[in-house]
Amino acid sequence: MNKRSFLKSLAFLGISGSFGFKEKVSQVPGIDFSADNFWEQIRAAYKLKPDYINLENGYYCFLPQETLEKYIEHLREVNYQGSHYMRTVQWDNKAKSVAMLAELVGAKAEEVILTRNTTESLDLVISGYPWESGDEAIMSNQDYGSMLSMFDLAGRRHGISVKRIDIPMHPANDEEIVAVYESAITPKTKLMMVPDIVNITGHILPVRKICDMAHSHGVEVMVDGAHAVGQFTFNMEELHCDYYGSSLHKWLSVPLGAGMLYIKDGKASKLQPLLAPFNLDEEGLHRLNHTGTHAVSTDLAVINAIEFQQKIGSQRKEDRLRYIQRYWSDQVRDLPNVVINTPLDPKRSCAIANVGISTMKPAELAKRLLDEYQIFTVAIDGAGVKGCRISPNVYTSEADMDAFVTAIKQLSGNA
Ligand SMILES: Cc1ncc(COP(=O)(O)O)c(C=O)c1O
Repeated sequence: MNKRSFLKSLAFLGISGSFGFKEKVSQVPGIDFSADNFWEQIRAAYKLKPDYINLENGYYCFLPQETLEKYIEHLREVNYQGSHYMRTVQWDNKAKSVAMLAELVGAKAEEVILTRNTTESLDLVISGYPWESGDEAIMSNQDYGSMLSMFDLAGRRHGISVKRIDIPMHPANDEEIVAVYESAITPKTKLMMVPDIVNITGHILPVRKICDMAHSHGVEVMVDGAHAVGQFTFNMEELHCDYYGSSLHKWLSVPLGAGMLYIKDGKASKLQPLLAPFNLDEEGLHRLNHTGTHAVSTDLAVINAIEFQQKIGSQRKEDRLRYIQRYWSDQVRDLPNVVINTPLDPKRSCAIANVGISTMKPAELAKRLLDEYQIFTVAIDGAGVKGCRISPNVYTSEADMDAFVTAIKQLSGNA
């Protein structure tokens, strides 16, 4: 066996942790996943900044110490092996991360690529789509700003027209939302962008029903799942969407700069790459995935992040996140001057919710929460939403949320 195959076989030995590297992963205290104080142990698995209560995990859910240590080890080892690593096992190892990620989201490995973030994933689809002048695309005012801009850019380049609907904030049922999207379809509509969860309100949409409706009109659906992977469970095959992008540095707690793009089997060849690969005539999804030399240590840490997620259990994590959100939102929902900008039906939300105070601008609310109560959130003031987005994580305690509830009661004049 030559050195290259030896290294390769080492890399294939185990799916977890060190990828056959020589140095040992740093030791981190174990978690007893069957103990009563399970969530306290999870909290202790994170190094928390004492300066404030962080209720802004929607931007970036930083890593538990265990994943961080393994990531640092990957950085050390890739640095140690240098170009030899890059020329031997980098692609095989990336494929292992993809396989594990595909399994987590219920897709085939051939349908998934690792990208740097949702922006790259969705922009690949929007920019590479076979647009013809006069085609129409549908999206919502509650979608993410730069994704909306990318469609506007496609409008300038290809002469497509872009229609924006408003997602009802408190729908009576799924059909109400489906009908809003359906009403915007014309014979010229080619593609629809739909958020799996609206990032500013935490509203989870009935994606399967929207996809089935869209397909019945011959319209494809691209789902913005920036906040979905790692927050709540879903199965890609059951969603029936055509394209799906997510950021893994959000709810899966992969190091910064990790994303996923899913493209339904057989659809990748209709897209043109954003960045040209070496072989333009290559078939399949991988010709869309060329970004040049990239941060391979992040690819490796995807596995460690999924392992941490699996130790908690995806369903147990989802249940906990939903519980924590309802723990605080139910305490303030009916108070005078307090406005919850997130649907009440439990299946329509998980960790994220949005709260406003009718007598205060969102920016002032965010500032006073930080200055007077040491609670860090983000203000949302647009697309019909006025409030602060509240995004706790698995380490957030009831005591954290009690402090937040007290703050909202006092600031809204309900103390
Ligand atoms: C709904 C939605 N889409 C896309 C993005 C872009 O994600 P990233 O900056 O990781 O590419 C975000 C970021 O918060 C988002 O909330």
